[in-house]
Amino acid sequence: MPRLPYHLLRLTSKSPLLQLLLRECRDLESARNELRWLREHAISSVQNAGGHRDERNDSWKPLLRSLCVKRASGKPLQYLLGSEFFGDIEVACKPGVLIPRPETAAAVTYFAERLCSAARKLPSTLRVLDLCCGTGCIPLLFQHVFAKNWPNARDPPHLSLVGADISADAVQLAEHNRLLLQQSLTGRSNAGSTWASRHALDSTAFFQADVLRPEQSPNPQGIPDLMTVLRQIDVPEWDILISNPPYISSQSFHRDTQRSVRLFEPKTALVPPRPGSSDPGTSQDLDEGDTFYPRLLQIAQDVGAKIVLMEVADLQQASRVAALASDTSVWDGIEIWRDHPRGKGPHLEKCRGEFPVRGSGHGRSVVCWRGEGTEWLQMM
Ligand SMILES: C[S@@+](CC[C@H](N)C(=O)[O-])C[C@H]1O[C@@H](n2cnc3c(N)ncnc32)[C@H](O)[C@@H]1O
Repeated sequence: MPRLPYHLLRLTSKSPLLQLLLRECRDLESARNELRWLREHAISSVQNAGGHRDERNDSWKPLLRSLCVKRASGKPLQYLLGSEFFGDIEVACKPGVLIPRPETAAAVTYFAERLCSAARKLPSTLRVLDLCCGTGCIPLLFQHVFAKNWPNARDPPHLSLVGADISADAVQLAEHNRLLLQQSLTGRSNAGSTWASRHALDSTAFFQADVLRPEQSPNPQGIPDLMTVLRQIDVPEWDILISNPPYISSQSFHRDTQRSVRLFEPKTALVPPRPGSSDPGTSQDLDEGDTFYPRLLQIAQDVGAKIVLMEVADLQQASRVAALASDTSVWDGIEIWRDHPRGKGPHLEKCRGEFPVRGSGHGRSVVCWRGEGTEWLQMM
């Protein structure tokens, strides 16, 4: 890690806590912001534990110091504060479950807004499956964006959202986040938002399942495969499949990810098993990092999905995944979205001469559609 410039150390010499935070933040403005948030968090934690909210009472100071020491060791701020904003919603975070990223929120927001703008074309029930759901952030934001953008004049569709993850901790946290969001929607509906109150009651559920395992093949830890779970909940058909799976190769994990990600976030959320490893769901011909995509495309076909939205690492991976989707010959259209898919107009340069690329920033998602999905996304 590079040394801090002398002028920064001198500027913070009177605040040992700011100096601690600078080790991780690297600039003064971020360190000051983090100190403010951590201080607020320490005061309210002490207050919630039965103390008084009196800043002159010093009982929160040891907690603040210990939070700053942890932060200086690289522990992500979101794990210390216990939450992160994801688009317009706040989701609880905890160690062991990946912290949601803003690029994912940008894609989900744009996607859900596009669907809302095709309100007349959508079916009366829209079933959305989110595979590798982590904190549950994707279905929860999807629901929130629908509630916010659905045109008043039309009856909203009944949204049925299901998330699945191999990690029991993730599924538990996703359920906790669902309850938190439902409470906040119900609170707002008391203030008159009928849309929100109707949707607070919509079915959103999270299950533990191994997405890579083929049907009827429980993994060695006894976690059921996804198709068995879908059969048990009796919803064999899904309109939309969304997934932000693990997609980083182990080489890129060691070479390109930040130290705090490597040290504190769960590796199984970022790096998939090697293609062709002991896992029967993977194939040897794939690039490392791409393990999940053939399986996701197969599941999309099996559940009859009309649209698939899959997150990827960059434009190279996006074009490989788009090619995998194209090889299945089931999709009427395939597009690559960058970090900011809204961009200016439908900037559709072509990636490697084949797939349209929308927006600005890094390649971030691959979107495939067919049948009614073409109208829902207004891709005609
Ligand atoms: C990149 S994280 C995405 C989490 C969340 N959707 C988000 O956007 O923040 C990938 C998730 O895949 C889960 N996962 C890893 N292997 C899995 C498998 N075989 N089946 C289901 N989920 C898996 C991890 O537990 C992790 O929560």
